[in-house]
Amino acid sequence: MLQRLPKQGGVGTAAASKCPVSTIIWILAAWVLLFQVYTTLYPPPTALTHPKNRVRSIIRYTEYEEPEFNRLPLPPNRNGKKRRPDYIEEFWSSSHKRQIYFPNKSSAIDPLTNNEDDRFYFHPGREWHDSQGRPIQAHGGGILYIPETRTFYWYGENKDGRTYHISKHSTARVDVIGINCYSSTDLWLWKNEGIVLKADERNVSSDLHVSKVVERPKVIYNDKTRKYVMWMHIDNANYSKASVGVAVSLKPEGPFKYLGSAQPHGFDSRDMTVFKDGDGTAYIIYSSEGNSELHVTVLAEDYLGFRNIMSRVLVHGYREAPAVFKHRGLYYMITSGCTGWAPNTALVHSAESMLGSWQLMGNPCVGGNEELRDTTFFSQGTFVLPLPGIPDMFIFMADRWNPYDLRDSRYVWLPLTMDGPADEPLEDVFEFPLWSRVSIHWYQKWKLPQDWDKVQI
Ligand code: DGJ
Repeated sequence: MLQRLPKQGGVGTAAASKCPVSTIIWILAAWVLLFQVYTTLYPPPTALTHPKNRVRSIIRYTEYEEPEFNRLPLPPNRNGKKRRPDYIEEFWSSSHKRQIYFPNKSSAIDPLTNNEDDRFYFHPGREWHDSQGRPIQAHGGGILYIPETRTFYWYGENKDGRTYHISKHSTARVDVIGINCYSSTDLWLWKNEGIVLKADERNVSSDLHVSKVVERPKVIYNDKTRKYVMWMHIDNANYSKASVGVAVSLKPEGPFKYLGSAQPHGFDSRDMTVFKDGDGTAYIIYSSEGNSELHVTVLAEDYLGFRNIMSRVLVHGYREAPAVFKHRGLYYMITSGCTGWAPNTALVHSAESMLGSWQLMGNPCVGGNEELRDTTFFSQGTFVLPLPGIPDMFIFMADRWNPYDLRDSRYVWLPLTMDGPADEPLEDVFEFPLWSRVSIHWYQKWKLPQDWDKVQI
């Protein structure tokens, strides 16, 4: 029996020792396998010369430094008892913490003074200057990309005013100045296009009066009407109006004409975003029922009103700051908890349809340390920007609010990738589509690969 084995397969150890030819074949096969594993892990430089290949390997070519936050001592335990660190409390009471999260002007990203080596680097949390060397004022914003001109337009709140409180227990605010627009072709150097929707200084009953709240503007383009449509959160200083407003323009650089506000289908709406799907259907997503749930409402064909289709999602979730994106036919939504200007933990949900159901996937933040991951890198999401021509790569845009001086709130932009292994949703569902894992990576300093913007779309 034993003697017959080598004849049958010729692949046993006994056979190999007796047969030099099969030994050689085995050794060769092992080398080929090792070589394949090596070239997969470390592709030769030629494979990266084409921009498309280079951008696919974005993380490897993204440079980063160890976060200084890792060296911070954790807050002491009270009475020797273990407790979860209260990062926010610490932030309020420690100027040291504030200095870390809001580094001073000397570290600003400024295209006018930065040396060549620092060009195109994003430094989350540092002051960021426009092409004229002035701090960018585009908070709670979103970006519209126009493929024909390969130009990005960044719309956001201009908060360049004095921070004050209307009463002892009210939230910090600045008077409305308007919605700013910046344009860029590389996402790093931004030209100020000015205030595209101005505050109203005279009419106290206007939604845009300086005493009101105009937040989280998002712009989408309507292919049929050829108009640029801006939706935004409109409120009173005490956040009791809870409405959405709409404005329209013939050009991305504005000016936008304000058309009015409403509560969609009669429901209160606070933090919001809009999402335009590939087939042109657009949705408005807003926190409702006292922020206890989100509503997804289909916009009318001209994007200026609502269709009679609405879905309540994340019911009892108490989530706000929604940012929606699509990847390989599935929808993903990143939200924050409701803690005013203070940061909290982000969550990502996924769905097969914008109207739901939305399944909880968990906290997408990775890297850094626990404090950063638990506080969305000490920021609150506002938008997820797909990188044109690079299907698995997005930029997560967030605001690091400074409630002491809201105009000095910072931007936290980080790479969001869908490259992780497929996840199963954390909530019970009956179907299991292949959800991709959403990962937002912490980098103290990073940049997009060279020539990413030259990829043919
Ligand atoms: C959290 C929201 O996300 C912000 O847009 C702003 O409304 C603040 N609350 C006000 O406290």
